[in-house]
Amino acid sequence: MTPKLAVLVSGTGSLLEAMKKDGLPIDLVLADRHCRGFDEIAAGAGITRELVLRPKGMGELSRVEYTQRVCDVLLAHEIGLVAMAGFMTIFSRRMFFHYGERVLNAHPSLLPSFKGEHAVRDALAYGVKMTGCTVHVATEKLDAGPIIAQEAVPVLEGDTEAVLHERIKTVERILYPKTIRAYGSSPTFRTTP
Ligand code: GRF
Repeated sequence: MTPKLAVLVSGTGSLLEAMKKDGLPIDLVLADRHCRGFDEIAAGAGITRELVLRPKGMGELSRVEYTQRVCDVLLAHEIGLVAMAGFMTIFSRRMFFHYGERVLNAHPSLLPSFKGEHAVRDALAYGVKMTGCTVHVATEKLDAGPIIAQEAVPVLEGDTEAVLHERIKTVERILYPKTIRAYGSSPTFRTTP
């Protein structure tokens, strides 16, 4: 894969772990907080790390400032492709000014159904029998960018949010690294916004 890849995490980092296992070259892991993905997975794998702590109670102004700080770090590392993997901060427009369509996100539902932070809980509450995961290009709008890949996952009798999310993540751990690799090596991949 040609572009330098940054993976952004805020949580357990099992998708990051899967990318590493897949052999995807990861040039940088950036986190907005201390978390397992940053403190254990990235540190344990010896990947270059940057912690850009998110201010508490982030308003619109600090969101813009925060996004600029993240962009500065990514640009300083000459990152060409950004993969959000459980990253819990929404960026302002500046990220897309710098990176255009080179920011990817994984989401644990079949978008456009069940956008937002509680996708798995919302799918269970709705009573769908089939859900899944989506890899899409991130935009300013939450979970709304162009879809690159999707895979369906069944909801089973007695599923809890944790059990269903783990079943979805098992699929994401294969689909996301594969999709990032294909996207980054595509002849139409643009290194400018
Ligand atoms: C994944 O389900 C991803 O779709 C969502 O956050 C989860 C990340 O899981 N955006 P992990 O922190 O990599 O285990």
